[in-house]
Amino acid sequence: MLDISAKTLLSKQKIEECLAFAGEQHQALLNLAYRTKLETIGNTVYFRGLIEFSNICSKNCYYCGIRSGNTFVKRYELSEHEILQVAHFAYKHQYGSVVLQGGERTGEKYTEQINNLIRKIKQLSNNELGITLSLGEQTPEVYRRWFDSGAHRYLLRIETSNPELYSKIHPKNKQHSFDKRIKCLHSLKTIGYQTGTGIMAGLPYQTISDLADDIQFMTQFNVDMVGMGPFIEHAKTPFYKTSTPMLSLQERFNLTLKMLAIIRIMVPDINMVASTAMQAIDPMGREKALLAGANIIMPNTTPNTYRENYKLYENKPGATQNADDTLDILTQQIETINHQVGWNLWGDSEHYKNRLK
Ligand code: 5AD
Ligand code: SF4
Repeated sequence: MLDISAKTLLSKQKIEECLAFAGEQHQALLNLAYRTKLETIGNTVYFRGLIEFSNICSKNCYYCGIRSGNTFVKRYELSEHEILQVAHFAYKHQYGSVVLQGGERTGEKYTEQINNLIRKIKQLSNNELGITLSLGEQTPEVYRRWFDSGAHRYLLRIETSNPELYSKIHPKNKQHSFDKRIKCLHSLKTIGYQTGTGIMAGLPYQTISDLADDIQFMTQFNVDMVGMGPFIEHAKTPFYKTSTPMLSLQERFNLTLKMLAIIRIMVPDINMVASTAMQAIDPMGREKALLAGANIIMPNTTPNTYRENYKLYENKPGATQNADDTLDILTQQIETINHQVGWNLWGDSEHYKNRLK
């Protein structure tokens, strides 16, 4: 018998034990998380149509393929018309929500550009499409303006909750500050966004103790949504080859599954993404994540011609598939594992609703 419950997992030692599980114990942990999910939020998977509208980024995170220092990547920005077309596609295909994601940029012109987009996406969908933003660190005023225009969820990964590790995976300057990231997460929550964060599993220099701390950070911060994935090297980054020993991709994949499972058991009503990075390692990666407790999928709706240039890591899937094909295959795969798609639904985080009660 596994002595695992929301209560026993309050101990960091227990979390570390679970993260070390292999074989039958590993599977039993995932099964428990899956049962917990079915009993609390059910088997519905919510889609968020992902619009990677620009790969222009002012930051230089060591792990990321579109970091500003990578001069090999062709920079692009979708026009407003193109973005609205994609949003319309998502609306027409009953996605329920879209995610606007792009490299991190700031400034009044940019802020207003996003503001207009949010308003226009709301208009074209009769206020029906939910809007999640994933646009990095901004001032509280900017977050507030976008919220007032109609965005209601925000994803900002902490990447790691260990400040020392954070400083090893980012350039050491003011632009890449752990404290600022924390402040941003606080202001998102205060403004009223459903707030999501997450980490990468298998980063260079990361330990099991760090990952256990990450789980405690996310649960204690009381986030509404979690988006996590395995770290995957990108050839044009300083982390392509490191002097430190690395876990295999399969080990990072399994660790991510266990992270998802532990969080689902600890916070049964949270929204958790089955990330694309899981699919980059295993073609059935997202389905396996659903069976370990995840309940959200972000199908890529970025036009094909741009996808090749939004490579955060190697083997990022979907560069050659168009959004229609992806959707059909994905829906079938979801049904094969006895889940259903929540068409036309926002699928807001139940944790958020319960937190406000
Ligand atoms: N491997 C996996 N995930 C990555 N991200 C960035 N680079 C990589 C990589 N090499 C993730 C970060 C970021 C999100 C948009 O993508 O966690 O927050
Ligand atoms: Fe920019 Fe985000 Fe990549 Fe960092 S992880 S370089 S902020 S796109």
